[in-house]
Amino acid sequence: MNIVSSVVEVRAQVKEWRRLGLSVGLVPTMGYLHEGHKSLIVRAVAENDRVVVSDFVNPTQFGPHEDLDSYPRDIDADSRLCEAAGAHLIFHPRPEDMYASDFCTWVDMTGLTEGLCGKSRPGHFRGVCTVVSKLFNIVAPDRAYFGQKDAQQLAVIRRMVRDLNFDVEIIGCPIVREADGLARSSRNTYLNAEERQAAVVLSRAVTLGRTMMEQGERRAEMVLFAMRKMLEGEPLARIDYVEMVDASSMQPVAEIRGPVLCAIAVYIGKTRLIDNVVFEG
Ligand code: PAF
Repeated sequence: MNIVSSVVEVRAQVKEWRRLGLSVGLVPTMGYLHEGHKSLIVRAVAENDRVVVSDFVNPTQFGPHEDLDSYPRDIDADSRLCEAAGAHLIFHPRPEDMYASDFCTWVDMTGLTEGLCGKSRPGHFRGVCTVVSKLFNIVAPDRAYFGQKDAQQLAVIRRMVRDLNFDVEIIGCPIVREADGLARSSRNTYLNAEERQAAVVLSRAVTLGRTMMEQGERRAEMVLFAMRKMLEGEPLARIDYVEMVDASSMQPVAEIRGPVLCAIAVYIGKTRLIDNVVFEG
């Protein structure tokens, strides 16, 4: 697997592909790749001639007391997964390759970033928007692939691409789950055996919410109340948020009409996990 760390090398490779008339897909990741990432890479390989996977634990999207230092990393395993999935290049920069010591230019977004994860993780989306903008400028892909698990991130990136006229098509891909329903996440690795069992409550709560909406419940408060009750029944779970928002503006809704995002963030022990369902209404 071809792994490069410098911006110059990625640009040279992409330039060569472009010279040959090849299309390029980008799968931005923070590494420690799992089946969820693999599904993004496989889709990108099916839809593009060449695929770049970026593998970078982006320091600017972590808060001061978050898990930047302990975030899991394993570039050898990532390389094997990328190879198996058919990717062509891994961009694995060091923090100093992405952020000069006097770096001072940020991509910040209002509105969409203020609720949900943005509320509990101030500055998180500024870091995400900035690094994703940089990746788009470095790789200049035709298409970029993001998981629906990070639903707010996906909405934010779509809006950023529209607002700043990035010439890239954003492809959202379905959540990939473990056999018992837990959404795949690099952070699942933090869970001990007892917490891992408890974590299934997230997907159960999301399934409950989806079922209620499918059965015709249109009052957001009723759906959220039932989901909260289920989550509160799990002793190892501590709710960060349980919310129903408009799927594109990310603003809370009282009535379920049109596409809504029903999203949750829950601590299982010290590990913060997220899950969601989009309901078309
Ligand atoms: O979803 C992620 O893994 C990250 O937020 C991303 C998009 C790779 C930016 O660092």
